[in-house]
Amino acid sequence: MTLSSTSRARGNGAGRTIETRFLRPGDIDALLALEQTKWDRDQAADASDMAARIQAYQQLSVGSFDTSSGAALASLFMKPIDVAQLYAAADWVGCARVETKGERSGNSLFGISLSSIDAESVTALFEFFWPYALKQGWRDIYLGSPMPGLRAWKERNPDLAADVYMREKRHGLPRDPQLRYYYNKGFRELVACKPDYFPHPSSLDYGAVIRGHIPLSAGAPLWRHVPLPLLQRMQHLLFRLVRTS
Ligand SMILES: CC(C)(COP(=O)(O)OP(=O)(O)OC[C@H]1O[C@@H](n2cnc3c(N)ncnc32)[C@H](O)[C@@H]1OP(=O)(O)O)[C@@H](O)C(=O)NCCC(=O)NCCS
Repeated sequence: MTLSSTSRARGNGAGRTIETRFLRPGDIDALLALEQTKWDRDQAADASDMAARIQAYQQLSVGSFDTSSGAALASLFMKPIDVAQLYAAADWVGCARVETKGERSGNSLFGISLSSIDAESVTALFEFFWPYALKQGWRDIYLGSPMPGLRAWKERNPDLAADVYMREKRHGLPRDPQLRYYYNKGFRELVACKPDYFPHPSSLDYGAVIRGHIPLSAGAPLWRHVPLPLLQRMQHLLFRLVRTS
């Protein structure tokens, strides 16, 4: 399998070229700049967190970069997770910890962190990763999402539980803007509503553990035998088809 494959997409705006690929240790300065733009100080990963993730999960750490400036536009760090461990974990730290020992014990991933300043780059990240996910037999991705609308909702509904808010819908979509965002990216299953999950004031520190299925992963035994370049040629068309269905 070629780990240095890249996918390129024309950005909207100023006609940028976006390069999407697996992350390398040399990307850390650019990734830190992105991280600091999008996360508060007590939430942001530092250089050693990133280095550990990239080293431990080389084929699960993906980034999009502006080729002219080298700026990181989006990053996604994932790790394999045992679903029992995911359910048992009290908080994000328990799910996101980098583990270097142990055999793969299932087909599920945990999204440690997604950061972006460019929505098109997020789509590029998922599209890029998709053929590798199929080839490697990953079936689904869990992640812990903030619910940034919770604090304001709770002020209006002090007697109702956060879980009620997590499940609330408007016009068939999650009420919370970030859960709505993930819903539109295919993360549609609400798994758990966890208190004291991570420091996030507007979410009252709650995290929504959500799950998205990797498109077409039900055919996993087949995809293992399909050459990666063929999956990569299919990726753009099929990814869009399954995302809009
Ligand atoms: C969540 C995130 C990755 C989305 O990046 P993106 O794909 O580039 O998309 P945008 O930031 O333009 O957001 C798109 C829409 O999602 C919704 N949304 C996503 N996150 C939101 C949040 N925290 N609060 C409110 N709305 C949010 C908004 O409706 C937004 O719509 P808008 O264009 O009208 O503002 C990015 O905002 C980010 O890095 N946030 C900080 C870190 C984070 O929360 N990561 C996810 C947890 S693992």
